[in-house]
Amino acid sequence: MFSSLALSAVPLLLAGLQVVTVDAVPTISAVGSKFFYENGTQYYLKGIAYQLTPHDPLVDTAQCKRDIARMSELGTNAIRVYHVDPKADHKGCMSAFADAGIYLFVDLDTFTTQIEQTEPHWNQTQFDHFKEVLDEFQQFDNTAGVFVGNEVLTTADGSAAAPYVLAAARDVKAYRDRKGYREIPVGYSAADIADLRPMLQNYLACQSNASDRLDFYSLNAYEWCGDSSYTVSGYNMLQKNATDYPIPIFFSETGCNTPTPRTFDDQAAIFGKDMADTWSGAIIYEWLEETNDYGLISYGPSAKAATATIVEDGYTRQGTPTPVSPDFGNLKKHWATLHPAGVALSDYKKSSSSPSLECPSSTKGGWAVDPSSPLPTLGQTYTKESTAGKETGQGTSTSGSGSATSTASGKGNAANSKVFVAGSTTECMLMASFILSAGLGALAYLL
Ligand SMILES: *[C@@H]1O[C@H](CO)[C@@H](O)[C@H](O)[C@H]1NC(C)=O
Ligand SMILES: *[C@@H]1O[C@H](CO)[C@@H](O)[C@H](O)[C@H]1NC(C)=O
Ligand SMILES: *[C@@H]1O[C@H](CO)[C@@H](O)[C@H](O)[C@H]1NC(C)=O
Ligand SMILES: *[C@@H]1O[C@H](CO)[C@@H](O)[C@H](O)[C@H]1NC(C)=O
Repeated sequence: MFSSLALSAVPLLLAGLQVVTVDAVPTISAVGSKFFYENGTQYYLKGIAYQLTPHDPLVDTAQCKRDIARMSELGTNAIRVYHVDPKADHKGCMSAFADAGIYLFVDLDTFTTQIEQTEPHWNQTQFDHFKEVLDEFQQFDNTAGVFVGNEVLTTADGSAAAPYVLAAARDVKAYRDRKGYREIPVGYSAADIADLRPMLQNYLACQSNASDRLDFYSLNAYEWCGDSSYTVSGYNMLQKNATDYPIPIFFSETGCNTPTPRTFDDQAAIFGKDMADTWSGAIIYEWLEETNDYGLISYGPSAKAATATIVEDGYTRQGTPTPVSPDFGNLKKHWATLHPAGVALSDYKKSSSSPSLECPSSTKGGWAVDPSSPLPTLGQTYTKESTAGKETGQGTSTSGSGSATSTASGKGNAANSKVFVAGSTTECMLMASFILSAGLGALAYLL
């Protein structure tokens, strides 16, 4: 196969003058509430969160290939990458992933450009960076989706940030279409915050104009811990509130690790009869074993590592992947048996009646977004005086944190922003995210 050279039907000059066109990997699109391959077969994510190094894991082709061999053994068909360097060369890794039938869901933000819950704003600097990442990754047919944010809202009184997430999605989608790029789905990855359910999920998908809503929604959920079940975990309630959701929804992080070992029994529910009609699969957190103990593989002890090897936080970030046992095998066993057929696109188009979703109304002391107020414009910063915020020019903050109707003290927000501000490295940032999620998961487990 010459497919490792195939990125987008590249004509190759072979054996003199003969021009050969190599087929590209089929693209994924979002139609209604589901993802489909080009041939009309429904696509379910069996994904892995893949970061390795804070800034970009998709630049070392040899490393990607070593990891891909193990990912394929697991049955992986998607990776999620949180941070990339749009100026780096990603052709080698992306092509290797394409050859293995593995699709990329990539976050468009960085530590400095991400939308914040406290004093939320959406401005040109952020947008320009998001564009750069999209410009780079749109060229790859195995880019399946982009995220405009990860866990922007983390507290009950953070709802004022939701319109800013949506404004980013609106602008990224408009830019994508203006540039004539493929309709790469644009979505958001939410922290699993009970106080925000189901309002956030519904708000981001309820706009009647499709230009103003997400193309998909996803949830970082650590609710299913140890020996649990569809009902004990609370997945039945997640299912209840996602039934008839108008856009694709999936788990963008899952895999509670208390207690150990991880069984990944939730996969059977997600890909089973109760949920597979609604959910489009799951991304397991995460590939590399780190201090947080969520890894599926490790690259072995760092002490003896060669000088070329990347070591950070005492963990080797390059090498030959060795499965973490029994977790890796547990996941592999599940995925090997889980193959929902889904629905064929042609049948789906005939049957679906594009359900509409009512926008959540604002409630005193709760969800603070007035669904009828216009989305923030580029350059807008949230202020307390109006739910939608007002123009303040260049990202100037004129307000404290919190939403118009917030009755909670600033405690949650303050504590949270401390974690996020203090964490200047990817590790801290990502760790804050999963500590939070895992904490909530453990809480759900205890309750
Ligand atoms: C459609 O394409 C996918 C991905 O290549 C493949 O797994 C699936 O079997 C194909 N479906 C049909 C009906 O050929
Ligand atoms: C939907 O929104 C887009 C972008 O704001 C706008 O161009 C278009 O006219 C809107 N469509 C309708 C039907 O209002
Ligand atoms: C489901 O939605 C209802 C309100 O419609 C809400 O009270 C409940 O907490 C939600 N459950 C979950 C698990 O999100
Ligand atoms: C936009 O906000 C970011 C922080 O998120 C800030 O660094 C940047 O200077 C702002 N850009 C503009 C044009 O205001």
